[in-house]
Amino acid sequence: MKILIIGSGGREHAIARKILDSPQVTAVFCAKGNPGMVQDGIQVVDIAEDDHKMLIAFAKENAIDWTFVGPEIPLLNGIVDDFQQAGLAIFGPNQAAAMIEGSKEFAKKLMVDNQIPTADYAAFTDYQAACDYVTEKGAPIVIKADGLAAGKGVTVAMTLEEALQALKEMMTDHRFGESGDKVVVEEFLAGEEFSLLAFVKNRKVYPMVIAQDHKRAYDNDEGPNTGGMGAYSPVPQISEAMVEKAIAEILQPAADGMVKNGTPFTGILYAGLIATEAGPKVIEFNARFGDPETQVVLPRLTSDLAQIISDFLKDQEPELTWSDQASVGVVLAAEGYPNDYQKGMPLPDFNDQVTVYYAGVTQGTKQMEASGGRVLVVEAEADTIQAAQAQVYQALSKAETAGYFYRNDIGSKAKK
Ligand code: AMP
Ligand code: GLY
Repeated sequence: MKILIIGSGGREHAIARKILDSPQVTAVFCAKGNPGMVQDGIQVVDIAEDDHKMLIAFAKENAIDWTFVGPEIPLLNGIVDDFQQAGLAIFGPNQAAAMIEGSKEFAKKLMVDNQIPTADYAAFTDYQAACDYVTEKGAPIVIKADGLAAGKGVTVAMTLEEALQALKEMMTDHRFGESGDKVVVEEFLAGEEFSLLAFVKNRKVYPMVIAQDHKRAYDNDEGPNTGGMGAYSPVPQISEAMVEKAIAEILQPAADGMVKNGTPFTGILYAGLIATEAGPKVIEFNARFGDPETQVVLPRLTSDLAQIISDFLKDQEPELTWSDQASVGVVLAAEGYPNDYQKGMPLPDFNDQVTVYYAGVTQGTKQMEASGGRVLVVEAEADTIQAAQAQVYQALSKAETAGYFYRNDIGSKAKK
């Protein structure tokens, strides 16, 4: 099989690597990919994610068996609809189904209609009305830009002042552009966070092993929200019963609800959850694999990812098996991220105890260099989270990381 992957980050690097592991796969192309992928035998294709015409032409010319979409933006741009219209096989939600991620209000309505547990909320387009509501409710309270903001359009406000400041930035200063014209104000949920991803086809749900991401930039969950600074899997402090409840009360009704809605979902459904005292509650749905969750979940998949996706596309029963190994992945970010960040640093070398998934890297004149906020993920697997964590941090501490930063506590929340 020849496979095309859309996207260019660490998540796509992990997906491509896993697909390339399959004995049935002879070539994996990634558009646009990044130069860090090349050393693993992934072929990068210089076509932009939003150039559906060129991507379709490439898939046809190269006899691609099927295409897999990594990021949300092409999904929301209707890349699945366009490929299917061109008669090409592609795995991912169509534009209508991707709205589960594209609009927080769409997702909230799905949850309310299907009794899926989530935080109470209200949506506003009027700045004054939003301020009045927030003032009435008080802190802690959560303010979210309704549209996409790369994981950064969320303020968990511990004081009323912070909440009002966030509303001002989103609604009157347009810090997130149009994404902030509508805001969702949410009840604050207390508890540990975990990510539960599943392969979904219409009403069929095949859950993956869970992971825990770390959204804040700095140690001890301090600093601004980011796209994710590191993840680990499994998450031993989240009980099996909590996960079972999340599958039965969240993933399954979400898949069913999408079918009832007339927007059936096929692809990767990602539930960002909080394990509250009353059970799991949804903080967000995504219509794709998570980044960096994918970099710690896929290494634990012991069955053939290419076969799994082929099975979904042919309406056959897929086989999913997982290892008991623990995986820890730490993001190496450019200093300054998630705000303006440094670029052009050489990429550090790492020992061969770890796997490196590249994201924000570019080919400089002599060598590869950093070009994005999240530059790469260093990942390792071991018998325990503590052992995997030690391997990753040993590799990072020996590397030359001037101009970079990383969190030192990824995996530390796991119960010993
Ligand atoms: P989101 O982009 O919706 O995933 O939100 C980013 C981060 O903000 C989440 O990963 C949580 O850490 C936090 N968060 C979002 N919504 C809530 C909520 N209702 N209660 C507590 N924390 C939240
Ligand atoms: N790691 C969070 C996300 O991919 O949305």
